[in-house]
Amino acid sequence: MAAVASTVAIELTPRQLADLELFRVGGYRPLTGFMTEAEYQAVLKDMHLPGGQPWPLPITLAVDAETAALVREGDRLDLLDGAGHRRAELEVRQRFHYDKTAEAQAVYRTTDAEHPGVAALYAQGDVLLGGPVTCFGASPDRAEDPRHLTPTQLRERFDSLGWRTVVGFQTRNPIHRAHEYIQKAALEMVDGLLVHPLVGVTKEDDVPADVRWRCYEVLLDGYFPRDRVLLAALPAAMRYAGPREAVFHALVRRNYGCTHFIVGRDHAGVGDYYGPHDAQHIFHEFDVGELGITPLFFEHAFWCTECAGMGSAKTCPHDGANHVFLSGTRLRGLLSDGQRPPVEFTRPEVAAVLAEAYAQR
Ligand code: ADX
Repeated sequence: MAAVASTVAIELTPRQLADLELFRVGGYRPLTGFMTEAEYQAVLKDMHLPGGQPWPLPITLAVDAETAALVREGDRLDLLDGAGHRRAELEVRQRFHYDKTAEAQAVYRTTDAEHPGVAALYAQGDVLLGGPVTCFGASPDRAEDPRHLTPTQLRERFDSLGWRTVVGFQTRNPIHRAHEYIQKAALEMVDGLLVHPLVGVTKEDDVPADVRWRCYEVLLDGYFPRDRVLLAALPAAMRYAGPREAVFHALVRRNYGCTHFIVGRDHAGVGDYYGPHDAQHIFHEFDVGELGITPLFFEHAFWCTECAGMGSAKTCPHDGANHVFLSGTRLRGLLSDGQRPPVEFTRPEVAAVLAEAYAQR
């Protein structure tokens, strides 16, 4: 059926715009658009696309029923950003209903509306539009933002630095000592490290991306060799889907040119929905080599007062009473009370940035 221009335009949410940006730069390869029903069902059922490529998360365009009623399969729809600018065109191959509870159970392993990823799913529209998207370039703010490097730009940097192996590090947090420890342990095994913080939508109580960015800069300036590390932003939104999202994060970093990817304790987890190693175990459900990137697994890391250094259950013989570790809730509590986290948990330069940001709130 020949595609026809439609008068319907869809204003995308920040999450949908994040997906659009990843289509645009090739971060979602092999996806070229929002999933059709066959793709969606295959991904939910066995984490592969109908063509056999691994892909663990649905990437969908949900609209409300009223909007969907105005759309016909074969239409070409304008996709607008929040300012009403035309950012892309969707060729609607399919318009279909879906079962949110089934998606929640398959992707998040829970149907609990308290889970932030499930809550976002329940809040979105009831109809999905699937089909390829054509993007019309970066939004002006992104094009001029040096934090955003596309997969092509990053691969060029890796090449010019002579890095044949690069480990990617996902984070939605400031980088604390445990994060630093596992990144440096990984860097001992490869040529370079891509610190690749996610800067799309995160949950309310996560530290905002601009504050985190200042944390990353002071940490890298003080404690990492600059010729071994690149810092760049990943425009994706957080799903908090734990295991499935760990595989997704790895595939996206493969597309950005990484050869290895760090998966630590409770990767992309939230609350106690996932076990500490679930996000590592899921990688064994894929054939060796099919992901095109090698996961590097790390145990829960902490500072040990007896060892006077960082370690994990694999390397430290002392009991938990010697281990300095703060949960996110405890850390936020300290900062809200005007206190600084201990140096064993967070470098003082990072603590200073966080303390200042909390003081200004
Ligand atoms: S995430 O949602 O982006 O995964 P976070 O920024 O806390 O959250 O974690 C970034 C990476 O560091 C993930 O791979 C996570 O598993 C790992 N990680 C976080 N804290 C620890 C820790 N104490 N020990 C080992 N790995 C950790």
